Amino acid sequence: MLTFSEIAAMQACPSDWRKAGERIALVPTMGNLHAGHLALVERAKQLAERVVVTIFINPMQFDRKEDLDAYPQTLDEDSEQLQQLGVDLLFAPEASTIYSESLDTTTQIHVPLITERLEGASRSGHFTGVATIVCKLFNLVQPEIAIFGEKDYQQLLVIRKMVADLDIPVQIESVPTVREKDGLAMSSRNGYLTRAEREIAPHLYKTLLFLQEELSLNNAKISELEHKGIEMLRKSGFKPDYLEVCQSDTLQPAKPEDTSLVILAAAWLGKARLIDNLSVNLKPGA
Ligand code: PAF
Repeated sequence: MLTFSEIAAMQACPSDWRKAGERIALVPTMGNLHAGHLALVERAKQLAERVVVTIFINPMQFDRKEDLDAYPQTLDEDSEQLQQLGVDLLFAPEASTIYSESLDTTTQIHVPLITERLEGASRSGHFTGVATIVCKLFNLVQPEIAIFGEKDYQQLLVIRKMVADLDIPVQIESVPTVREKDGLAMSSRNGYLTRAEREIAPHLYKTLLFLQEELSLNNAKISELEHKGIEMLRKSGFKPDYLEVCQSDTLQPAKPEDTSLVILAAAWLGKARLIDNLSVNLKPGA
């Protein structure tokens, strides 16, 4: 595996691969890799001849400096795992390489509407940071395909919209959330959980499963179910941020006649802010 931290040196390889007619799949990450990231790499290997992984803890997408400072940095271990998986190229730049000037004066990409609710409402500027770095990485690596996890469901939709609106010639592929045996979605933030909190954490997924079942049986009004879900999280020991049933494509609040839904939730457990989601496809007219 080739590893680069500088842009010009990194770009030579993808350029040669492209000339040789090989397709490139990009897996953007912030490192601290777990099985969820490795599933993205496996998918990338199925879809393209060459796989590029980026590890960049993007300061622009953090609204709280403490969160950025605390973000785990495990480049050596990550690099070892990627090497074993047969990744072709790892690009792990410094922040100053990616942002040559202050974040306030650099051009930023704002994707409207879909970024305003849920994660966007709780984390000011987060999706502008995500859209900007993903667009920059697309320009730097110029992959044919890029892979993202469905755990960050809203992020996935934001990236799809940016790519469509700006005519970026990258095919976006997604991979289902990878879970621990007890259902907890894999996340770098799970490392912040104490042993006691780790026991509670799977209740986030259990709550979503309960709501998924209730929605399928059409047992109660959506607003009542959302209320019930929030109460369940509180009783388990979470501090819920949001739990909402949304239209799966727009993330606007679901209406009774909608059939393609997604339940999204974010909740604090000690120092960890966990997010998760579950899709629900109802039969029309049921
Ligand atoms: O999902 C992530 O890890 C990040 O938001 C991403 C897509 C790598 C952009 O920094």
